Amino acid sequence: MAAGLGTRMKSEQAKVLHRIAGRPMLHWVVTAARAAGAEKIVAILGHQLDAVRASLDASFGAGAIAIAHQTEQRGTGHAVQCALPAVAAESDDRIVVILTGDAPLLASERIAELVTACTASKSGLALLSTVPDRDMPYGRLVRDDNGVLERIVEHPDATPAQRAIRDTNAGFYAIRLGHLRKDLNALRADNAKGELYLTDLVAHAYARGGATAIDAPFTEVAGINDRVDLATVDVAARKRINEGWMRAGVTMADPATTFIDADVGPLGKDVWLGPNVALRGKTTIGDGVHLDVGCVLTDVTVADDTLIKPYSVLTETVVGERAKLGPFTHCRPGSQIDEDVHLGNFVETKKTHMMAGAKANHLAYLGDASVGHKANIGAGVITCNYDGVGKYQTTIEAGAFVGSDSQLVAPVTVGRDAYVGAGTTVTKDVPRGALAIARVKQVNKEGWADEMREKLDMRKADKPSKDA
Ligand code: UD1
Ligand code: CA
Repeated sequence: MAAGLGTRMKSEQAKVLHRIAGRPMLHWVVTAARAAGAEKIVAILGHQLDAVRASLDASFGAGAIAIAHQTEQRGTGHAVQCALPAVAAESDDRIVVILTGDAPLLASERIAELVTACTASKSGLALLSTVPDRDMPYGRLVRDDNGVLERIVEHPDATPAQRAIRDTNAGFYAIRLGHLRKDLNALRADNAKGELYLTDLVAHAYARGGATAIDAPFTEVAGINDRVDLATVDVAARKRINEGWMRAGVTMADPATTFIDADVGPLGKDVWLGPNVALRGKTTIGDGVHLDVGCVLTDVTVADDTLIKPYSVLTETVVGERAKLGPFTHCRPGSQIDEDVHLGNFVETKKTHMMAGAKANHLAYLGDASVGHKANIGAGVITCNYDGVGKYQTTIEAGAFVGSDSQLVAPVTVGRDAYVGAGTTVTKDVPRGALAIARVKQVNKEGWADEMREKLDMRKADKPSKDA
């Protein structure tokens, strides 16, 4: 169920697309359902249907998740009514699991437990209950004198005595399709919210012997209604992710400030992560990689034994084995950094291939370039790749040496083992093994500086002093 408005988020974006550890909250729920072995997943959408569908298609494949359209949000019972046509071909004895789209931390094992409990229950209905650690406006579980679940009373409809009940409805259910079909028809909107409550199915199950409630930890089932909930659940998600990676052999200097998105991985053995490291998107990290303080990697692949020093920012980049980057290296999309490459402080790459053993240790911009095996890029080198209209390619062949403060005006090639003298503006291709030098010839004026100083001293002596 993901059709709701999410009014309390106060957002232009549909609530279920807000992210927890980098992944839209609805995608967490779909991922858990898949992991639990769901044969068919139907997302009930309404508010911002197109945006939510596009997001599901992008992550799970076009059409992989069926969509049921709830045009008007008339309650959770009505939402599920809207999904019935999507399972019209299924037989009555099949089990349907109903999940809320705004509670992302539900584990797939819990879904399996629900199904098992539903199968065992005479009533054909099982649900998750929870005891919140703070006051939540959840539905309360009302039991009869024998402890059998009689019904759920929603928070707005509950008496003070009912609100004192500690067991609440977490919003996850498994039910036989036959019962679902029949009981949904009987729902009435005669309640405080004037909605069709899915929770009224519990009263129907009482007539069949009572639904089974399975208690789940609150942190796992907590729903998100506003941005305070969003932050709280995000912290819990990140803690779970970090603990998983630490158990798999990753060291974190400060887990509390280490931000690893849900879709990141694998991370290798003996990876070391400094404080404030953020790994985002589809990043993967090899064995023995060291990522020091403040590194931010988005959609990056890092091979084994690479060292990335503090405050380096890499995006859509592939890094080879034993490379040494940073501090303050910036690799922008399309960078390919091969094995044993060194990139130092304030070096920026974009759509650039640094081949094995190439070095650019200080202050350089290398864009739309290929830098050959063991080529050396001096301090302050710039590829002038853009003329205001088009982007052009710079090719620096293997073993070339580009002196400090040179500009390479693309399109241009520096041949194999060639030299570019410091301060040269290269506008023509440099042949293999040649030296290119293009700068104003130096003139030395003997004694000029000494004479200049003498003149200045004399002028100072001539000036009358202030207190004379
Ligand atoms: C619901 C339960 C409540 C439970 C709580 C747990 C009902 C009537 N109440 O209350 O017992 O304690 O969840 O979080 O079910 N939705 C639709 N279409 C609608 C209405 C809602 O798709 O017409 C979706 C929402 O997008 C959301 C989910 O259903 O993902 C839950 O809806 P919400 O309005 O948040 O229900 P609660 O009031 O939280
Ligand atoms: Ca809710």
